Amino acid sequence: MTAETDTTTRQDQQLLSDHVDMRPVATDPDEAVADRNAIVQLDPDHPGFRDLEYRRRRNQIAQIALQYHPGDPIPDAPYTDEEHQVWLTIWRALQPAQQKHASAEYLECLKQLNFLPDRIPQLREINEKVFAISGFRLEPVAGLVQPRVFLENLADGVFLCTQYIRHHSTPLYTPEPDVVHEIVGHGVTLASPRLAELNRLFGKAVQRTKSADALERLSRIYWFTIEFGVLREDGAVKAYGTGLLSSAGELGKMHQADLRPLDLDAAGRQDYDPTHFQPVLFCADSFDAMYQTLREYLVNW
Ligand SMILES: [Fe+2]
Repeated sequence: MTAETDTTTRQDQQLLSDHVDMRPVATDPDEAVADRNAIVQLDPDHPGFRDLEYRRRRNQIAQIALQYHPGDPIPDAPYTDEEHQVWLTIWRALQPAQQKHASAEYLECLKQLNFLPDRIPQLREINEKVFAISGFRLEPVAGLVQPRVFLENLADGVFLCTQYIRHHSTPLYTPEPDVVHEIVGHGVTLASPRLAELNRLFGKAVQRTKSADALERLSRIYWFTIEFGVLREDGAVKAYGTGLLSSAGELGKMHQADLRPLDLDAAGRQDYDPTHFQPVLFCADSFDAMYQTLREYLVNW
């Protein structure tokens, strides 16, 4: 491979991968841990692998999760000026894309959380606002957790959140869910009482699910709705999925996907690759239609 194609590949990867959320698929014991407090080691190809200061800060932030007691205020993470700059860069890319492509429900919630463009919001502040609106709590975790642990916590109105931010060398790329995905994606949508309710119902459905096969189907439905759901508003396709809403690149390209009518049985059978833009999306006729369909499906699961 030439140096030029190598750079191109890297740039493509940056664009393609900033939405990645491995939680619903991280069934490999090397990638996910049953203990919500285990620290995940960085791979040698992680953008921050050679940055000792970054790794030290990641460990410091992981310690917050290790020492956290549910219900306590979440201690603030020690973000640097460089990291606040990462947030600003992402914000500048995301804002116009969201105004164009986000669902009305999302934009309404976004206003209520009132982010500042030049400062990474602390989980503590977002948690207070979200809890006041929907009763959902955000709790810090050190890294990836098993899909079942992650999903079952939703039943109790708890969203397990990473608190570190991606490495400053790749502001539009992260190989793992970071605080930007958590806050801009999940934090905002959990400020919607109806989306918060659907998250709870997912957790309850997972609690009632015994077989690995059924858990897999439910994880896929979570992926194609909560993470990558789209719907129609006045004829236009808009996003309500957190993976789309936290990625300017993918938001701008979502109309190029194969848009299929929302069919939850079909979504449960649909394979996906979290490291690429999604070639298939399930599109509801409206927010109300999505809410009613998904709610009924989960209650009867
Ligand atoms: Fe996510």
